[in-house]
Amino acid sequence: MKRRIGILTSGGDCPGLNAAIRGVARAAYEMFDAEIIGISDGYRGLIEGEWQEMKRSQFSGILTLGGTILGTARTPFRNMRVIGDDNVDKVKAMKDNYEKMKLDCLVTLGGNGTHKTANLLSEEGLNVIGLPKTIDNDIFGTDFTFGFHTAVDIATEVIDRIHTTAASHGRCMVIEVMGNKAGWLTLYSGLAGGADVVLLPEIPYDIKEVAKVVEARAKSKKAFSILAVAEGAMSKKEAKMKKKEREAFRQETGFNGIANRIAKELTDIVGVEARAVIPGHIQRGGSPSAYDRVLATQFGVHAAQLIEKGEYGVTVALSGNNIIHNKLSEIAGVPKPVPQDFQMIDVARDMGISFGD
Ligand code: F6P
Repeated sequence: MKRRIGILTSGGDCPGLNAAIRGVARAAYEMFDAEIIGISDGYRGLIEGEWQEMKRSQFSGILTLGGTILGTARTPFRNMRVIGDDNVDKVKAMKDNYEKMKLDCLVTLGGNGTHKTANLLSEEGLNVIGLPKTIDNDIFGTDFTFGFHTAVDIATEVIDRIHTTAASHGRCMVIEVMGNKAGWLTLYSGLAGGADVVLLPEIPYDIKEVAKVVEARAKSKKAFSILAVAEGAMSKKEAKMKKKEREAFRQETGFNGIANRIAKELTDIVGVEARAVIPGHIQRGGSPSAYDRVLATQFGVHAAQLIEKGEYGVTVALSGNNIIHNKLSEIAGVPKPVPQDFQMIDVARDMGISFGD
């Protein structure tokens, strides 16, 4: 059996993309007569026809490599069916290029936006398999995405390092953790790093409650406080607003990121010396952790097994200890916030961690 497989990585990068690409390629070469086409910069390359026939050697030595050897780009799903100034029908261009490449299937590595476009292409008749990557862990249908655990390790190290300097100076340190609209990364790294306060988008906070915790600590022997704050966290007042209203409110009040705002508010209310720390894209950089290398490899190999069976229109996922696959149509565009009744939230509360609510 011969199969021509197109692979692309789309959206924000994360550690583990190369491990997953390698997993697909190595298993495919082992299992059947595979030809692999690497598409550059995600859907941009598929639309504009930028690809290369890959050699087997190109998949060697990339297991530990961060980023993606194929390059990536954000090509928003909402614009896929919109014909812009360039007059390009993007969906038609992607289908035409799939034909030109003579593909039997397309493997798309990405997050929520990538999965929505993968589903669109599947509905348009292409053979598509998704692999869920993101440091945000916000893809419905999988317990974990690859990239997440590495980012947890990095964010935890940031919190650990902040801990020592916070203790030396008796300061209140507010660490802004990535994660988009989901609090997974903040919850896991906050717990792993021993944060005193964890603020998540899923649990709107009241700054007075946060101030109470910081004030009590400031008066105690442990005068410092560590706050792990999700970039998407919001106050109770903001949570009642519609998205546009909230954005306008933030602009009016000179919003310069959530950590900066909370640090300033705590200085004003409690009088503590507070600092905002924003590790940003460091959380997405560098080599994948052992966990992510294993998960990405398992996902990649599962994709090759699906290709061998000719099973398409699905995305690979982790369920408990098993690698499974879900229909793209059932998971694409479905959000996965931290559930209100998530057991780890109770664990954290029982440890005395405040969610500021
Ligand atoms: O989705 C991954 C992510 O790192 C989010 O956590 C963050 O909100 C966003 O991407 C940052 O996007 P960009 O790389 O485009 O600045």
